[in-house]
Amino acid sequence: MESTYFTPRLVLQRVVPADATDIFEAYAHDPRVAKYMRWKPHQSVADSEAFVKMLEKEKKRKGGHQAWAIRLRETSQLIGLVGLDVFPPKVHLGYVLGHPWWGNGYVSEAVKTMIDAAFQLPAVFRVEGICEASHEASGRVMTKGGMSYEGLLRSHTVLPNISEAPSDMRMYAIVRDDWETLKKGDMKVSTNPSPARST
Ligand SMILES: CC(C)(COP(=O)(O)OP(=O)(O)OC[C@H]1O[C@@H](n2cnc3c(N)ncnc32)[C@H](O)[C@@H]1OP(=O)(O)O)[C@@H](O)C(=O)NCCC(=O)NCCS
Repeated sequence: MESTYFTPRLVLQRVVPADATDIFEAYAHDPRVAKYMRWKPHQSVADSEAFVKMLEKEKKRKGGHQAWAIRLRETSQLIGLVGLDVFPPKVHLGYVLGHPWWGNGYVSEAVKTMIDAAFQLPAVFRVEGICEASHEASGRVMTKGGMSYEGLLRSHTVLPNISEAPSDMRMYAIVRDDWETLKKGDMKVSTNPSPARST
């Protein structure tokens, strides 16, 4: 995959070790951001450095987890991260944005670009993502990206900032056929914010 992608307002740039401080300051220290994530808020820049080192290790493996910093085009400020776990035929998508930038459509913009990037890999037939069952904003990001709600995964993922018991998660996905149709403009992107309203 490319090391840099551009969207109208953002630059998505492969994470490098020098990003650790920006990652800590933009989002990783913030309990509001970590609430639905699988990690606890970072206590210091050292935690963010350890995270970036882990990404570096993954990068050396074939495929595996890859992450791009979400930067504002105008200022180059790092505001979040988008990650892909590339395991053809499927790719798992993840994202996180610092609290000051929520609600501006930034993650939806980044996600659409990364879905397109994933389907540039001929072996990829499915891009999927999961979010905690009550996390409406995250589900909305995925449906805005053209992904469809597929079902509830019960007791699926431990979210340590919510409970020690595994949480129910919603699964969303887009498959290559749907993506190709979407790109031809034949299929309207779903605007349903939640499975309760998706039928
Ligand atoms: C979830 C998150 C990624 C959303 O990023 P964002 O850039 O603010 O999202 P966008 O602005 O692109 O879109 C959010 C959509 O959700 C909607 N939304 C936000 N809060 C909502 C809520 N409580 N209920 C329903 N919809 C909601 C917004 O209205 C918007 O939809 P719209 O464009 O149709 O109005 C961001 O809040 C975040 O990083 N949170 C912390 C980390 C996290 O939870 N990551 C996802 C883990 S699965």
